[in-house]
Amino acid sequence: MAYQEKQLQEISGKFQIYGQIQHAEMLKIGHINETYTATYDQGGTRVRYIHQKINQNVFKNPTGVMENVMRVTTHIRRKYEAASVSNVTRRSLIVIPTRDGKSFYQNGDREVWRTFVYVEGVETYESVQSPQQAYQAGKAFGEFQHQLVDLPGDRLIETIPDFHNTRKRFTALQQAIQKDEHGRVDSARKEIDFALSKESIVDVILNEMASGTIPERVTHNDTKFNNVMLDVLTGDAMCIVDLDTVMPGCALYDFGDMVRTTTSPTLEDELDLSKVKMQMPMFKKLAQGYMTTAGNFLTQAEKAHIAFSGKLITFEIGIRFLTDYLSGDTYFRIHRAGHNLDRCRTQLKLVESIERQETAMQKFVDGL
Ligand SMILES: Nc1ncnc2c1ncn2[C@@H]1O[C@H](COP(=O)(O)OP(=O)(O)O)[C@@H](O)[C@H]1O
Ligand SMILES: [Mg+2]
Repeated sequence: MAYQEKQLQEISGKFQIYGQIQHAEMLKIGHINETYTATYDQGGTRVRYIHQKINQNVFKNPTGVMENVMRVTTHIRRKYEAASVSNVTRRSLIVIPTRDGKSFYQNGDREVWRTFVYVEGVETYESVQSPQQAYQAGKAFGEFQHQLVDLPGDRLIETIPDFHNTRKRFTALQQAIQKDEHGRVDSARKEIDFALSKESIVDVILNEMASGTIPERVTHNDTKFNNVMLDVLTGDAMCIVDLDTVMPGCALYDFGDMVRTTTSPTLEDELDLSKVKMQMPMFKKLAQGYMTTAGNFLTQAEKAHIAFSGKLITFEIGIRFLTDYLSGDTYFRIHRAGHNLDRCRTQLKLVESIERQETAMQKFVDGL
């Protein structure tokens, strides 16, 4: 810890912060990046900043990531300012530039660091605790997408190509089955059969996008609930974080991932599959929140696939876990033998649950 603090003092000196660093500690919450909270004395007032090291195993193009982050945060801030919204500096991430005017600092070890204004008086939860929180999540990500509908300039950089290319994900699964490098196919027979039987859903949105009925949009691509910071007093969503995967995508993929991560009461690796289910009250609030902010810009074709998107994205993650299990657990870190197969099972169980309720879910959205 002492070493980290010393290291952070060196790093913090590279940014345009007009204060003296007092102490710094690691935030335990993130799963991808290394995030630190640092406290400064600035003119006699305590001010905090976030220093964050980008995970370059996941993000191969950190320069591209930061270019996207700068464009998106600047655009959102200008919108809030133009609308005279209160608390602007708590509503969107603010990147603190380096002393030589760059959006990130790269040290001798080629680590990439960036600094954000610390948003005070907010909290994040690992999972949704109530339908009201589901509403806030839907509303916040819908607003985020809405703000970026008119992002000027070129297409954002695709920092992780083919992130949600469900056809490519499916092909990767087929190849992993064929190779069976670790002799695990037999142990996952049931899951494999189920996954292969669902091939028809794989191209649905890709085809709509290819024909232009569903447009490409700027999307967040990591719409987990712990990326929504909520005001501690009101519980309202204040600020969306974790903008590393913001890139060209499909609005429905963001929504679908929200359905996956908020509507079941279980964790991603729940062993008791009887507990895994899509809970309609959660979905209703999530969709209501989302439609209050996204309802005006979504096309008819997008709206018509809202329920389907939950099934598709849950299926996509399910087959990614399955592929990784068959390939020897090289992508998702495991904490026990068979962990990726367990994760796959919860996802596929959730796919079944969504499928059973898909018509009712869509009917509800149609009526909003
Ligand atoms: N500017 C900020 N102000 C306050 N807390 C923040 C800020 N940025 C991130 N956090 C907290 O740190 C956590 C991890 O940050 P995040 O960017 O989501 O990293 P990861 O990619 O590792 O999930 C967030 O869930 C949030 O609780
Ligand atoms: Mg995060």
